[in-house]
Amino acid sequence: MPTYSATAIAHPNIALIKYWGDRDPRLHLPVSGSISFNLDKLTTHTQVIFNSELHADALSINGTPADEKSLRRLSNFLDIVRQWSATPLFASVVSENNFPLGSGVASSASAFAALAVAAAHAVNLSLTEQELSRLARHGSGSACRSIPSGFVEWQCGESDEDSYAQTIVPPEHWQLADVTAIVSSEQKATSSAEGHQIAATSPLQAARVADATQRLDVCRSAILERDFDKLASITELDSNLMHAVMMTSTPALFYWHPETLAVMKAVAAWRQSGLPVCYTVDAGPNVHIICLAEAASEVATRLSSIPGVAKTLCARPGPGASLVE
Ligand code: DP6
Repeated sequence: MPTYSATAIAHPNIALIKYWGDRDPRLHLPVSGSISFNLDKLTTHTQVIFNSELHADALSINGTPADEKSLRRLSNFLDIVRQWSATPLFASVVSENNFPLGSGVASSASAFAALAVAAAHAVNLSLTEQELSRLARHGSGSACRSIPSGFVEWQCGESDEDSYAQTIVPPEHWQLADVTAIVSSEQKATSSAEGHQIAATSPLQAARVADATQRLDVCRSAILERDFDKLASITELDSNLMHAVMMTSTPALFYWHPETLAVMKAVAAWRQSGLPVCYTVDAGPNVHIICLAEAASEVATRLSSIPGVAKTLCARPGPGASLVE
């Protein structure tokens, strides 16, 4: 009975310049580029076994069989791997995250990055980093950014072939940290996939997209120059712009809770008083606080005294996805 297996590890990433809105929802082709860094302490570890005895794909996440929606998303992704490699076999996939679901850290990025690396290797597809990033993008847009190491830019490209992510600088270039303030662990009501599809209904989206190249340039140069003030203002502006689009879409999406705004305001005040911090918020209520690594423990202490902050998670810029031998 032929079996082909491989295991890979990948990290989620936090976007400083966000991806919000698809030109092509099936291919996850974005309306503009984005910039992120991988989160070193947080991991997804995934084993893929293609097996001639299986009659369907199977998926377990953190020891529990996945629901039908997740299984369908997995099979759609594996269909691409089967097509690229001319492998007819079904696969059994076992995935473990070391961070809780609903923690405000998008697990789909690390999930599809680890899956892309493991599945491609299992079927002997020898892919370049760019091709792996493209492949991961088919599963989840932000997953293409978890393939390369460190600080990463996803160029939006014009087609399936040229929409992938590349390293701007390696993780050790800049000692930053991401401290996530968890204010709610509830599963969000509207997924990113649904949000991307209604982004264009906001009259603000066109202005947000028109200005994206400029924001990407400012963010990239802030990273290259290790200019924290420049990074802080562009990161907060980009997050606020995305949430303005969300709130003015049809239907309107309000991801913030009262505690979200309380943390954002506190962070802005801390920066005013000299602490090197800024905030960014994804499609959920939890707040990512980006800071110089030397300030991370002070940030975590201050966050824990804000009512409603249940927990904090801390990570530093990390490596890309890799095989586990
Ligand atoms: C707000 O990559 O999760 O986190 O491609 O549908 O899987 P799909 O969406 P996803 O969207 C990420 C949205 C975001 C911003 C970002 O990470 O850039």
